[in-house]
Amino acid sequence: MTCDTASELLARHDQSHVLRFWDTLAATDREPLLTQVAELDFASIARMRAMLTDTAQDEVQPFEPAEAVELIDPDLSQATSAGEAALRAGEVGVLLVAGGQGTRLGFDGPKGAFPVGALSGDTLFAIHAHKIVALERTYGTAVPFYIMTSEGNDAATRSFFEEHDFFGLSPERVMFFTQGMWPALTAEGKIILDRPDHIFMGPDGHGGLLSALHARGVTADMQRRGLTSIFYFQVDNALVEIADPAFIGIHNLRGAQLSVKVCAKRDPEEGLGMVVVQNGREAIVEYTELTHEQKYERLADGEFKYNNGSVAIHVFSVDFLVQESTAELPLHLAHKKVPTCDEDGQTVKPTEPNAFKFEKFIFDSLPHAERSVNVVFKREDEFSPVKNAEGKDSPATAQQDMTLKFARWLEQCGADVPRDGDGAPLHRIEIDPLFARSPEALAGVLPEGFVVNGDLLLAESDEEC
Ligand code: UD1
Repeated sequence: MTCDTASELLARHDQSHVLRFWDTLAATDREPLLTQVAELDFASIARMRAMLTDTAQDEVQPFEPAEAVELIDPDLSQATSAGEAALRAGEVGVLLVAGGQGTRLGFDGPKGAFPVGALSGDTLFAIHAHKIVALERTYGTAVPFYIMTSEGNDAATRSFFEEHDFFGLSPERVMFFTQGMWPALTAEGKIILDRPDHIFMGPDGHGGLLSALHARGVTADMQRRGLTSIFYFQVDNALVEIADPAFIGIHNLRGAQLSVKVCAKRDPEEGLGMVVVQNGREAIVEYTELTHEQKYERLADGEFKYNNGSVAIHVFSVDFLVQESTAELPLHLAHKKVPTCDEDGQTVKPTEPNAFKFEKFIFDSLPHAERSVNVVFKREDEFSPVKNAEGKDSPATAQQDMTLKFARWLEQCGADVPRDGDGAPLHRIEIDPLFARSPEALAGVLPEGFVVNGDLLLAESDEEC
């Protein structure tokens, strides 16, 4: 793109200020700025600007709680068998969204590189990858692993996997791809420069997955590998049961396009999106969009009215991902602090929110699905996210929850796990998925009469327990 074309394009979209430092820029700094301009998604920017001025677009349509199924036998066994058959046939892939910036955790690096194993020091990426290796071994199958990153963490994520030999995964089956980037806007709808030669850009939200899958050839890769179902999860969940066969199975048996795991919220203010029925379709309403009354409303039996929370564990059918690659998802806006360039070309870090960032959410594709199924799961077994440095949903709570889960597994296998008066295990426990990926697998390797008498790490290299 030439300077003239860029200038015309920007003028047409009321963004001429983007080139206001042009005359002062060194020749080498001009090209990257022109590339940024050429890559701007003006159709989406027009939607963002409309959203800033048209408040009617913010109105949330009325909704009611959605139903969810609790899998118990014989349905559970049937679903498990169907899921296991799909895994054995090599029809299941795994998709991780890891393009977020993890600002709340305050960790410098991709969130997946955060060490969360209390005894092993294993990172979130290591734990997730080991679960996939263990799945492949159990079912004698290949489970391709797709990882969405963003510009800010793509290189670091790739090198982290390379430095750790892909945690035992076959590199041929690990695919990284980047999501799209969007500019932030001032209240007047103007694109923001954070340097004289640079437009501030941020990830377009995990909903950017749909277009990125298509643009980067990922859905084509899924089809080439003969995949039909994709298990989707977020990087921060230390307890996730990756490609849980019963979940894959019920999704397939129901011919669903998008399935959702749901659990009850911990308290009315917990940051979980709620599964609802809106305009006759299933949908997920993000916690920030629920009113105070909706968060606290209870039914006659004392249960919260909106209590089927989504923790971002899904199964997508590959056909649905292909169909959705051109779908238009709604935009969500947040008022944020964005570095800006002052009139002298100096970067200024604001102390108060000064700009609007826009994101797409993947779960906004749920209303496009003609068939979907919501499956209840036990949160103590499958959900413990690492979001904050301290307090709720922190590394400390994830480690406690891992110890509790593994203590239950050990007890299920007849082991003796000493606990204090409140029922908390006296020792920290960690079981590497490569040692055992389920209580059933653990039962096969645990000696009879096993007693936990100190901190316990069961890892693959352990000759004996
Ligand atoms: C999210 C969900 C919420 C759910 C909760 C469960 C949203 C908007 N809300 O909240 O409904 O109940 O998790 O833990 O997602 N990501 C990208 N690209 C982006 C933005 C995010 O890949 O542009 C990834 C992150 O790396 C992470 C996941 O999406 O894996 C969630 O992002 P995060 O910002 O942590 O969402 P929450 O607000 O915690």
